[in-house]
Amino acid sequence: MINNIFSLNENEDNNKTINNQKNYFSFKRYLNRPLNVCYIGAGYVGGTSSSVMAYKCPEDEVIVTVCDVDSEKINSWNSDNLPIYEPGLEEIVKKKRGKNLFFTKDIDNSIYSADIIFISVGTPTKKKGIGAGQAAELSFIEMAARKIAKFSKNSKIIIEKSTVPCKTADHIRTILNANKNNNDNKLLNENLENNILDICNLSISRSSSNSTLNNEDLKSDCEPIFTDIDDKNKSIHFEILSNPEFLAEGTAVNDILYPDRILIGGNETKEGGIAQDVLCKLYSYWVPKEKIIKIGLWSAELSKLSANALLAQRISSINSLSALCEETGADIQEIALACGLDSRIGSKFLNASVGFGGSCFKKDVLNLVYLSNYFNLPDVADYWKQVIIMNDYRKTRFVKTIYNKLFNTITGKIIAIYGFSFKKNTKDTRESPAITVILSLLKEGAIIKIFDPKVPEDQIKNDIKENCDFQEYNEYISNIKVCHSCYEASYGANAIVICTEWDEFKTLDYKRIYSHMTKPAFIFDGRLILNHKELKQIGFSVEAIGKRL
Ligand SMILES: NC(=O)c1ccc[n+]([C@@H]2O[C@H](COP(=O)([O-])OP(=O)(O)OC[C@H]3O[C@@H](n4cnc5c(N)ncnc54)[C@H](O)[C@@H]3O)[C@@H](O)[C@H]2O)c1
Repeated sequence: MINNIFSLNENEDNNKTINNQKNYFSFKRYLNRPLNVCYIGAGYVGGTSSSVMAYKCPEDEVIVTVCDVDSEKINSWNSDNLPIYEPGLEEIVKKKRGKNLFFTKDIDNSIYSADIIFISVGTPTKKKGIGAGQAAELSFIEMAARKIAKFSKNSKIIIEKSTVPCKTADHIRTILNANKNNNDNKLLNENLENNILDICNLSISRSSSNSTLNNEDLKSDCEPIFTDIDDKNKSIHFEILSNPEFLAEGTAVNDILYPDRILIGGNETKEGGIAQDVLCKLYSYWVPKEKIIKIGLWSAELSKLSANALLAQRISSINSLSALCEETGADIQEIALACGLDSRIGSKFLNASVGFGGSCFKKDVLNLVYLSNYFNLPDVADYWKQVIIMNDYRKTRFVKTIYNKLFNTITGKIIAIYGFSFKKNTKDTRESPAITVILSLLKEGAIIKIFDPKVPEDQIKNDIKENCDFQEYNEYISNIKVCHSCYEASYGANAIVICTEWDEFKTLDYKRIYSHMTKPAFIFDGRLILNHKELKQIGFSVEAIGKRL
């Protein structure tokens, strides 16, 4: 059973006195040490949300450890060259790394010493087997759960941070309960000896006055947050919560600092309520209480899929209308303005574009499609599937426009691609529309010159390689050049294609660009970020999504 030390509300007043500068709950007061938080998975979500948590929580109250199976990624998190780019992230990591933020390959001991574990591993779309192409690949979640069971010696709160299909918490619980090591005190001894340094490093930071910790200190420092108060022989309890992440890449730090809401899904049991309270208190360090919402476990899981499906649906809706605008002469930006001013609709997510990308929208909508079919709701499945079909249609239609405008032949023509990441302010390229556009143009015999402000050359080439077969790649590679600037990419080009909405593309010297391009010089604005009138005045032939220019 879980000790309900965190539901002692009468002590909260004491906390207020102790922390009279800030009105927050003190974990230290209850534990005689900081709360140990572990993230399993140091990717976009694990890396950014853990860093912001460490940044916002007092160093003597909360220690955050992030672990990953990918040792290169961990090395990168511990270096000056972080594995991901997000505005503001580097500053936060540099400020907190080695204080109350630690990146480690040592998953076993990170689990062992944690009070709370966030599972933030990937859940990509399954590539083979049952549900291939739609269902979420849950093997990383299962592996993480098995590790937690193996290396836990005390009760813990386990939190689904990854996006998972509804009811996954049940599977995690079953795995944990079937594999837990009740009171196996020998379990980690050997492992701990081997990794004593890592844990000591953590411990030192917990108590700056004590820099010579020994094994005994270590044991006492790792006292569990949930103790089995009544009977030492009682079994370990894992309480599972769902706390989906709603960050958007490119604005991740800001999104986590100032979230619209924090969902904490839990079981309607006493333990479930206590666990929800603990997580509420943790978020309360920086999130206003009214934004922290406790809901049911299944609702929290399904909310994340639903939110992404609704966002993707909005993009597909405006993109479907953009095709109609191109045919009728209406202007999609005017339509978006007119509709967005309706307070029932709102203006966000009404930007027509070459299509959405990223690791989440497509996979989460497909997951919803799979779930709907699984529960024998084919009409619901078909409805959501159309969101993906429309997204693919928008990319294909854009490429067809390029083809038609370039006189129905692209063979040997030089096309400059501006932007390769799936959106601005990230170097994430997963499902980037640029990949589809580039491959279609290469297929037509184009010579492609690519510039992206953040995505490195090897990543660009690797993405192209992974999305075509071996023979095609060998054929294409000599026609692909990754450039260092927009000017270099457009030199001698017949056309520029805007694939990502990076701000710096808006302020280029387009007169200079025009002067060194092959005429007629075309610009295809797949993101609606340029001043089309000015470009036309310079002499460009301009084409843009959802407009007749
Ligand atoms: N990227 C986003 O914008 C975003 C936003 C919200 C939610 N999500 C969801 O969050 C989850 C993670 O997404 P991401 O973009 O951070 O993925 P990612 O691929 O960037 O990171 C996942 C990390 O988990 C690690 N990992 C896998 N199995 C592991 C294991 N057993 N033990 C330790 N580490 C392991 C991988 O090595 C990888 O570094 C997904 O479910 C995703 O849908 C992503």
